[in-house]
This record gives sequence, C-alpha cells and structure tokens, in this order.
Amino acid sequence: MNWQDNYIDMHSHILPGADDGSESMEQTISMLHMAYKEHIGTIIATPHYIPGEDNPSVEYLRDIAEQVQQQAYKINKNLRILLGNELYYSESIIEELKSGKAMTLADSSYVLVEFAYGIDYKSMCRGINNLTCHGYIPILAHIERYFCLHRDANKVDELVKMGCYIQMNCHSVMGGFFNADASYNRKLLNNNLVHIVSSDCHSDRTRVPMMQTAVKHLLKKCDEEPVKKIFLENPTRILENIYI
Ligand SMILES: [Fe+2]
Repeated sequence: MNWQDNYIDMHSHILPGADDGSESMEQTISMLHMAYKEHIGTIIATPHYIPGEDNPSVEYLRDIAEQVQQQAYKINKNLRILLGNELYYSESIIEELKSGKAMTLADSSYVLVEFAYGIDYKSMCRGINNLTCHGYIPILAHIERYFCLHRDANKVDELVKMGCYIQMNCHSVMGGFFNADASYNRKLLNNNLVHIVSSDCHSDRTRVPMMQTAVKHLLKKCDEEPVKKIFLENPTRILENIYI
C-alpha cells in the first residue's frame, strides 16, 4: 500500500456533542466521509478535557466512539476510530490521568496537551517536565498558536530536547510562498522540529478533516522523507506506543 493511502489523524473533534467539535451524528458522518476522501484510515477522537470543568466521562465517550465506529464501518470496513483527549494543562491533570478520568492517546503513554495560548515559556516547560516526570510522553498540540514560541525555533528545540513532541495543524502548513506563517511552519517541519501534523478538525464546514490535501501541498515544497515520517512513520510509532 502506498504511504499516502492510509493516514492516521491524531487530533480531531469528531465525536458528536462531546465538545466544541461536531454538533450531531449527522455532522460526524459527513466528517467521516470527508476524512475517508482525504485518505485517512485511522482517526483518534480527541475531545477537549479541561480540569475543573464538567467533562464527559470516559465511559460516555467510549460509548459515543463505538457508535461513530459503527458509522465509519458503513463507509469503509478499515476506517478505525480510536480515543484520547486533548488535555488542557493544569497541575491536576496528572491525577486525572492516573485516576482514568482523562485519557492518553489510544491507551498509549503519549498525551496530547495544550496550554493557554498566552502562557509564558517557563510555565510551559514546567508543565512538559511534570508530564515526562510522571511517565507520560507529551505531544504539544498546535504549536503554532503559542505566543511564547512565536518565530523562536530555539525554544521549540529546547522543548524537544526535554522530551516533548510537537504537533502542528494541517491548515498551518498550507499557504503559498508569500504566507509568512505557513513558510515559517514548513521551515520548522524541514528542521525536524515538528513530529506530527493533524487536522484538529471541528466540523464539516470550517476546520474540516484533512490530510492528503496538506501532504500534496507539502510535497511541492518539502522533501518526501520528512513528510512521510511526519504523516506515516511517527503516528504509527505512537499507536505502537514506542518512542519516535
Ligand atoms: Fe484540538
């Protein structure tokens, strides 16, 4: 099978009614069709988990994920739905992971974690350290959104050296030569400072499921090897729960 035929989307808000993503099963089904057309074979549903808020229980999410899986099978028998959370970082997240209230990615040791966009760099480092010290492997969600890391590849490099992996959204690597943000994001990717690119899809209208569109775009501007690593090899290793 060609490496561009079976992507793993590790960051999605595809479960209906679980967070600010899909609003209904109808919308989820539409998103599944879009995902399939984008050559996505595995979707990790990562509903937001915000400590201190009224988050849906793991049992409830597993039940909805199973319902979505049944719909996915109708589109293609190989389309898989797995489960995790996008964790909003707070110190209490460690306890909530340990108690099973919050989830890692597909039962691995990897956790998809986001911080407040305006967080200062030292606090972000402390959070990443806290997760690694407790045996979790952090993947920093949509790195392009944090003010403290803006256009500062050295800080991103430091985070990676601390044991943090970096996720970027598909939309953020799109855009032509004159799109300064997209050009910079692709530079990070070419410099091995991005490990995962995912859709972070929220609906079938805006922030839609996407992988193949981003890959096609990237292959016009980047070498095939790093793109293949980011879109196939790294996500595969995460699902196998081995280090990237
Ligand atoms: Fe997200």
